[in-house]
Amino acid sequence: MELRQLGRTALKVSPVCLGGNVFGWTSDEKASFAVLDDFTASGGNFIDTADVYSTWVPGHKGGESETVLGKWLKSRGNRDKVIVATKVGSDMGNGKKGLKAAYIAQAIEDSLTRLQTDYVDLYQSHRDDEGTPQEETLGAYARLIQAGKVRAIGASNFTAVRLREALDLSAKNGIPRYESLQPEYNLYSRAGYEAELEPLCRKEQIGVIGYFGLASGFLTGKYRSEADFNKSPRGEDMGQYFNERGFRILKALDGVAAEAKATPAQVAIAWLIARPGVTAPIVSATRIEQSHELIKAMRLTLSPAQIAALDRASAA
Ligand SMILES: NC(=O)c1ccc[n+]([C@@H]2O[C@H](COP(=O)([O-])OP(=O)(O)OC[C@H]3O[C@@H](n4cnc5c(N)ncnc54)[C@H](OP(=O)(O)O)[C@@H]3O)[C@@H](O)[C@H]2O)c1
Repeated sequence: MELRQLGRTALKVSPVCLGGNVFGWTSDEKASFAVLDDFTASGGNFIDTADVYSTWVPGHKGGESETVLGKWLKSRGNRDKVIVATKVGSDMGNGKKGLKAAYIAQAIEDSLTRLQTDYVDLYQSHRDDEGTPQEETLGAYARLIQAGKVRAIGASNFTAVRLREALDLSAKNGIPRYESLQPEYNLYSRAGYEAELEPLCRKEQIGVIGYFGLASGFLTGKYRSEADFNKSPRGEDMGQYFNERGFRILKALDGVAAEAKATPAQVAIAWLIARPGVTAPIVSATRIEQSHELIKAMRLTLSPAQIAALDRASAA
């Protein structure tokens, strides 16, 4: 499988990044290990997590996903074969949040301990922190890179204005810049990224690793009526896609899938992989059958006519 360069870094990643928010949540340790084994055995090498996963689950305090991933890395002895991305900044409780330098210096140690490694390949600001000067945050990251604890940095959920400002500060201060952006991006949610972030990222060669690649499962076509909402804990979020445009997109996915002898999920991911500027969509999988689909999507090439049909169906 051909690997792709992430931004201007030396990191070479598979064209799909395995989303890790499900590890230790809807995917227990055994199921997570099975998916991780399957994904990496078939050429996937890029895995995304965050310190905050999965604080939203009653009884969890954050770090559950990193802990599962760390145990897997340790037990498989394959740390140098895998590109590990994690994030800092979301609210972990007890005042642990934000992008202040002192907090980042502490948070990376906690992540490294849970991940059972001494470096993270891609360390990302989970969300913007307007209460902290970006110069302070970027300085903290520069020190982590200098110390060998982090190989590259990225931003998630940033506006184009704030990302531009961060890039300018890095250039002015001669320190490492954000090399990747993690926005919400999929066939349904396009405008928020495509309007301003996409041109900026393409111009600056920022690697784009969008999240919710399958719109949390909607784009697989498994939610067609409200009776389907109970198929997964993610079902409760599906109402937002149940409108004329959402069903038009599903119909186009069905059509292309039939033509390409693929599934709607594979087609939705292949459309993202083909989008200029995208390095690797992030998609999670809770079962081996789902990780098989990720692998197939990485090998599926859509024709220009199929991409145009999907573009037409998803136009606002
Ligand atoms: N930066 C951020 O703020 C942010 C926010 C959200 C997510 N993320 C990242 O993005 C990743 C992906 O997010 P996500 O998991 O919420 O959304 P997603 O990738 O759009 O949806 C994945 C979910 O869809 C279902 N699915 C996957 N493959 C399928 C298939 N072939 N057939 C049927 N169903 C399938 C699975 O859920 P079921 O178990 O329900 O079947 C899976 O967990 C996360 O793991 C995380 O790393 C980042």
